[in-house]
Amino acid sequence: MIAFEQVSKVYADGTTAVNKLSFKVEKGEFFVLIGPSGCGKTTTLKMINRLIEPSSGAIFIDGQRTAQANIHELRWNIGYVLQQIALFPNMSVADNIGIVPEMKQWKKSTIEKRVDELLDLVGLEPTIYRERMPSDLSGGQQQRVGVARALAADPDILLMDEPFSALDPLSRSQLQHDIKALQQTIQKTVVFITHDMEEAAKLGSRIGVMEKGEIVQIGSPQELRENPRTNLVKEMMGHTISPGHLPLKDVMMPVYQSAYVKERANTDQAELQYEINDKQELIRAFYHGVLLDDPLTLNRDSTLEQAFEALQKQGVPALPVTEGNHLIGTISYEDLAKLSLKTL
Ligand SMILES: Nc1ncnc2c1ncn2[C@@H]1O[C@H](COP(=O)(O)OP(=O)(O)O)[C@@H](O)[C@H]1O
Ligand SMILES: [Mg+2]
Repeated sequence: MIAFEQVSKVYADGTTAVNKLSFKVEKGEFFVLIGPSGCGKTTTLKMINRLIEPSSGAIFIDGQRTAQANIHELRWNIGYVLQQIALFPNMSVADNIGIVPEMKQWKKSTIEKRVDELLDLVGLEPTIYRERMPSDLSGGQQQRVGVARALAADPDILLMDEPFSALDPLSRSQLQHDIKALQQTIQKTVVFITHDMEEAAKLGSRIGVMEKGEIVQIGSPQELRENPRTNLVKEMMGHTISPGHLPLKDVMMPVYQSAYVKERANTDQAELQYEINDKQELIRAFYHGVLLDDPLTLNRDSTLEQAFEALQKQGVPALPVTEGNHLIGTISYEDLAKLSLKTL
């Protein structure tokens, strides 16, 4: 658990960036801090791993005052991911991820095993990406390596400062989906900063809204939507939509992860297969080996209700989601069930 008690930060020039902040983040929680630029989010985050020291007040991790902790041990136990992930340009992906384990003098074979495990975890095939150089990765892939690196030494806490805000919308949406799933698997305590409420509502179990160095309200997305305590909260929540109206693109399984999408000539015998060509267009669909005449497709902006109806109508476990001519993902009963478990 992370606890702030009356924490303030006044910079040398007299700016009060954070003002008597008190809040708690529970173990295993996905906590999102949101607020306009300059409200003190980054300062708050950096005080957790002591990249910035508070001017007054105290921060506790699992009951221990961070000011009294050994700073190296503290930082090893806290992964940190930034917007502009600074991968070392002349080191391979594997070496970038292995930095902290290397410093901790893990055995070489243990590090190699860990690197592959982490690449798998963040959705990068180890045999393909392990020896690549950072310059040969897309922005989204670099952020994935950044997340893997932050998790390398198995920290209890993961701090993320606007990690996806420099990405294109599609990569961003894929990474949001993946980091949420990842956190549910590994159960780390995550403190995630964003200024985008749609992102906050999608990821956070609780959201803390910051304004001028203070947290003005903490609650689940639903609580903030139903009972906004300030105009800022109200205005921010106005830009989000309730879960039943989420567009499919935010709920679907992206193409590269879907069990139902097959490249042509793949002989895998899944019960349901949507085949795509190299332009990522849907060419045909098989259900239990039988060609579906005219498979229903959903649009990225279709609603969950429409998806549910279409699934029942077609009588298959999953349907393709398209954007223009491209297949961008699939939506299954399982995806819908997972969402309702999380939000109802
Ligand atoms: N090193 C610094 N010296 C003086 N003022 C700073 C420093 N870093 C940040 N600030 C100021 O503190 C306030 C909070 O900054 P920051 O924590 O970066 O906000 P956010 O991440 O929410 O945009 C801003 O007014 C910013 O200009
Ligand atoms: Mg910031």
